[in-house]
Amino acid sequence: MSSSTRLIVIGVGRWGQELARTVARLRGVELSGLFDANAALARSTAGALGVAALTSLEEVIDARPDGVVVATPDNAHREPVTRLLEAGIHVLVEKPIATTVEDARAMIAAARASRGSLSVGHILRFDPRYIAVRDAVASGRLGDVVHVLATRENLKEHGLRRAQTTTVEAFLGIHDVDAIQWITGRRVARVYAVGASRVYAAHGRNDTTVATLEMEGGAVGSVTSSWALPDRSGSMIDASLEVVGTRGSARIAMRDFGLRITTEEAGDSFPNPAGVDVHGLATGALADELAHFARVTRGEAAPMATAQEAFDALVVVLAMERSLERRSVVDVHAGAEVGR
Ligand SMILES: NC(=O)c1ccc[n+]([C@@H]2O[C@H](COP(=O)([O-])OP(=O)(O)OC[C@H]3O[C@@H](n4cnc5c(N)ncnc54)[C@H](O)[C@@H]3O)[C@@H](O)[C@H]2O)c1
Repeated sequence: MSSSTRLIVIGVGRWGQELARTVARLRGVELSGLFDANAALARSTAGALGVAALTSLEEVIDARPDGVVVATPDNAHREPVTRLLEAGIHVLVEKPIATTVEDARAMIAAARASRGSLSVGHILRFDPRYIAVRDAVASGRLGDVVHVLATRENLKEHGLRRAQTTTVEAFLGIHDVDAIQWITGRRVARVYAVGASRVYAAHGRNDTTVATLEMEGGAVGSVTSSWALPDRSGSMIDASLEVVGTRGSARIAMRDFGLRITTEEAGDSFPNPAGVDVHGLATGALADELAHFARVTRGEAAPMATAQEAFDALVVVLAMERSLERRSVVDVHAGAEVGR
């Protein structure tokens, strides 16, 4: 009998494909099946990876995996997550935990009542650059944080595929909101957001949202989220973080990854080498996130981003969305709807 940790992936769309491939290449972990509401996609993905295509959530539960990774669209996390937790299974759900307070609350309640745990895939917590900035702040080397500026931009193609199920703030901004709160150890207290809607006007979504933040303790910041980059940008992501404190500063710039591949057909491209196997094994932040989750299922580690922390990021994003509607400053923690 194998002593590997057995994981199943639910939702093998664009990101779930990466998750499934990465799980399959982790040391000491077995991808023991996958499930997608699109049965043909589940079959073809499972066939390519040499694993079982499961045909329902019941089959996933009946397979008694050690843990399940849920990568359904942002607005479709609640049902699989609560049912898996009710069955006592450990779950890693993709960010954002949900797109509504109600869904997130239901998931947190299910986790509290479960033998299983709920982790949320805030992958920047596994990025060595973000960890180094957090360590620099925590050590006091930067002094008191004065401001934090974050940007994250994706290609149009990424946004247009997802505009029916999420917003640019929930899909991209959530990464930076969680990173800012995690790095500074302080919550965002108030937000004022403005947005531009051109390419996405027909979808009722912003192309770009710029949110100004007031943090507890007096620091200020901003989060810029956009999925309006030209599809031929070469790099699928352009992101940055700057933290300035009273005694120092830290900066992350993420556009290319020190790697450029140029072809006659596509011109320059700057692929993220995080997805590259190192001699047969997966490496990088995603592999580290999944390996950590495997340890959580074995009781050797606690969730890196808890459901409560993910909820704390979600309420900031929802406050941005209220600010966009009302065109006014929104107090993130005001009102019964975000009470704990
Ligand atoms: N951490 C990251 O960097 C990162 C990157 C991209 C996406 N994501 C997250 O991953 C999740 C998936 O995003 P995506 O872009 O791959 O979405 P997608 O739309 O490409 O794929 C979602 C898949 O889920 C399936 N699905 C929908 N409802 C289902 C259900 N109830 N049961 C089973 N399968 C179901 C769909 O058929 C589809 O194949 C989202 O939450 C997204 O925010 C995270």
